[in-house]
Amino acid sequence: MEKRESFGSGFGVLVAMAGSAVGLGNLWRFPYLVGTNGGAAFIIIYLAFVFLLALPIMYSEFIVGRRSQANVFGAYKVLAPKTGWCNVGLVYVMASLFIISFYCVVGGWTINYFWKSVTFRFTTADTAVLGDMFNNTVTSNSEPLIFMLIFLIATALIVMAGIKDGIERYTKVMMPILFVIVVVVAVRSVTLPGSAAGLEFLFKPDFSLVTGKTLLDALGQAFFSLSIGCGTIMTYGSYVSKKENIAGLSAQTAMTDTLFAIIAGLAIMPAVFAFGISPSEGPGLVFVTLPYIFAQLPFGAFLAILFFFMLFIAAITSSISQLEVIVSYLIEEFRMSRKLAITLSVSVITVFGVLCSLSQGTLADVKIFGYNFFDFFDTTSANILLPLGGFFAVIFVGWKMKRPDVVDEFTSGGMRKYSRFFLNFSYYSIKYLAPIVVAVVLISGLI
Ligand code: TRP
Repeated sequence: MEKRESFGSGFGVLVAMAGSAVGLGNLWRFPYLVGTNGGAAFIIIYLAFVFLLALPIMYSEFIVGRRSQANVFGAYKVLAPKTGWCNVGLVYVMASLFIISFYCVVGGWTINYFWKSVTFRFTTADTAVLGDMFNNTVTSNSEPLIFMLIFLIATALIVMAGIKDGIERYTKVMMPILFVIVVVVAVRSVTLPGSAAGLEFLFKPDFSLVTGKTLLDALGQAFFSLSIGCGTIMTYGSYVSKKENIAGLSAQTAMTDTLFAIIAGLAIMPAVFAFGISPSEGPGLVFVTLPYIFAQLPFGAFLAILFFFMLFIAAITSSISQLEVIVSYLIEEFRMSRKLAITLSVSVITVFGVLCSLSQGTLADVKIFGYNFFDFFDTTSANILLPLGGFFAVIFVGWKMKRPDVVDEFTSGGMRKYSRFFLNFSYYSIKYLAPIVVAVVLISGLI
């Protein structure tokens, strides 16, 4: 068996967790869901879910991962031997597989757009042209498959090298740069003539349009964006030393992620309205809107190159965290070498990824439960598997583990001195608040 890895420093853990959380979920998925779900009301519900669920679920994943020092399947097996709990780990592996399968398709689009920006293809500020460009980019039978593969192979190479080297070094420089560019774009976006309608869309809620589907989309997006519900944090948590601060790391991760999402909304929506693009455009929204904004910015062509490069980095720091869940499971439960585990998972992901990519064009009419492959992997994982996974994590920590063990792990063996109030509050949000909220939304959303 290979020696288990561990992160080098507390800062490295934060960078890895925030790197996992911040990604296409913030800059691509969030804006387009805000658009298709009617704006401000969706954002408020989303923020409420983040506020209620992020911490209890992150704490729980952390506690299970760090206490067991094992992969998602092994973790439940170590902490609850001879029970059915380890099957929850299998749900996590499956969810991770579903997610990375469409994630690497969109990751491929990012590389493609990076390439387009390097070759100065965004000189036209014409939404029709940019819309066609996006359609041609994603519906082709060859180009997107090649870019998807490049993205997947890049992910695999980093995971091969081991998660701790590499991530920390690059991410800590790239993320702040990405942040600055998104802020610049947001400033340009809100100062465009005609942006007011976009601001209204973002900040003036109309709750009359909210349905069970809106709630479920917001719930799924909260899980997706924070990387919770499929054992990512559990896996990273298992590489974290006993002295790191679970509460602090979780709060910092959730805040960073939310900040990125809000600023991404501010960067996209005002421009969408100013340019007369339909907010409910769907997955192409960001890819059509952003080049248009770059065409209207001083040094826009240069900013576009930087932006798409950083977006690629943000995406890859997320995809490695998805792949690591699967790979650590295969290594530890089947005693595979890292190389074999990666080769095997990448082969399966390639097949799923090809199906997702082709479902944008050639295979658009092939449906599973009424969804094409891409939407099937996306929607079932985000809206069902992740909430279920998060639900089981909090139920496990709140009801199956013993409270003194939970407190011991949460306080790093008593090293962190928390007030009684904070401890109780955290414990009861794990035990009651989080499971109830998830169960209610999941049930109401599904019927
Ligand atoms: N949170 C990432 C994003 O916003 C995606 C991601 C990484 C993820 N790991 C995950 C989503 C685990 C769900 C589960 O892009």
